[in-house]
Amino acid sequence: MKTEFFKEPTAGAIERVGEILRAGGLAAIPTETVYGLAANAYDPDAVKKIFEAKGRPGDNPLIVHIADVSELAPLVQKVPASAKKLAAAFWPGPLTMILPKSDRIPMEVTAGLETVAVRYPSHPVANAIIKAAGVPLAAPSANLSGKPSPTSARHVFEDMNGRIDAIIDGGECSVGVESTVVSLAGKTPRLLRPGAVTLEMLRAVLGEVEMDPAVTDPLAEGAVASSPGMKYKHYSPKADVFVLSGTPEAFVSYINSHCDETTAALCYDEEAAKLSCRTVPIGKEFDFLTQAHLLFDALRKCDALGMTRVFAHIPRKEGVSLAIYNRLMRAAGFKVIYV
Ligand code: TXA
Ligand code: MG
Repeated sequence: MKTEFFKEPTAGAIERVGEILRAGGLAAIPTETVYGLAANAYDPDAVKKIFEAKGRPGDNPLIVHIADVSELAPLVQKVPASAKKLAAAFWPGPLTMILPKSDRIPMEVTAGLETVAVRYPSHPVANAIIKAAGVPLAAPSANLSGKPSPTSARHVFEDMNGRIDAIIDGGECSVGVESTVVSLAGKTPRLLRPGAVTLEMLRAVLGEVEMDPAVTDPLAEGAVASSPGMKYKHYSPKADVFVLSGTPEAFVSYINSHCDETTAALCYDEEAAKLSCRTVPIGKEFDFLTQAHLLFDALRKCDALGMTRVFAHIPRKEGVSLAIYNRLMRAAGFKVIYV
């Protein structure tokens, strides 16, 4: 398949992408979190193509994207007070809510679940495309299944060229990690995937919010994942990733005595000069927003540089760093070295 590549999100490009989506095609679109691979959420055949293009397991449900808060109601059975509060506080933005689905949402979107995940992104190009398509858009991250999520159109091109109808370049994604996913389908709101809307921020609006154990830990043998996406190996470059737990000094000395020419360190900016291996700086030690913004690009860079092994700091489990912890631990397959 020939993939149309739009270098700029011009009005003409947005109109054309809207047309492709209305006709049942697939298009990769920018959002503020990561690029999404979009299809008409009301069209089961279009949605099935997403799974094929990504090589995505059939039991992993998709997020439906809307361009106005009022577009939530038709997709769900009812809009509870908790959803109204979260929408008022964080929409448009990097927050996905899970609610019991209405009949409008085909089972292909939810992978057979009775709930649907909905997000109203803040990226102006995403909004313009949803409006141009005239339908809600089902969209997972636009990477091949298992790869780090794409935070630039170049990343999407690497994974998806020839597999989808169109890619539209809207620049680098500002957030860099996928949206926070919170389930409102149970008795107590539950964080399923951490993101830029932090657990602390959710609790400030809702009061009690539980954290699913899969946010920080590998799924126990035989357990059922609340969010099917959490059970798969994820975000992985080809290189083998190891997370190092210890002080910044111990990090530097461990790496300097264990690295070779195909080892890279995902390091803080301030320590790059002290490391004797290839360094990929991801921001200052406490600058979680920059670290989130650079993380997936850094993992892809390690592959582009031909690295076979990557060492990274164990992230803090607070604020936006909880999202980095969640992604990096999966990228590492939970391999931690105590240094
Ligand atoms: O920021 C994002 O959320 C990006 C952009 C494109 O919007 N999308 C994204 O989609 O990250 P994806 O498919 O890569 O991740 C969706 C996650 C998966 O872990 C999936 O299992 C979970 O949301 N999910 C979707 N629907 C669900 C449902 N009904 N119940 C539980 N988990 C659900
Ligand atoms: Mg994904």
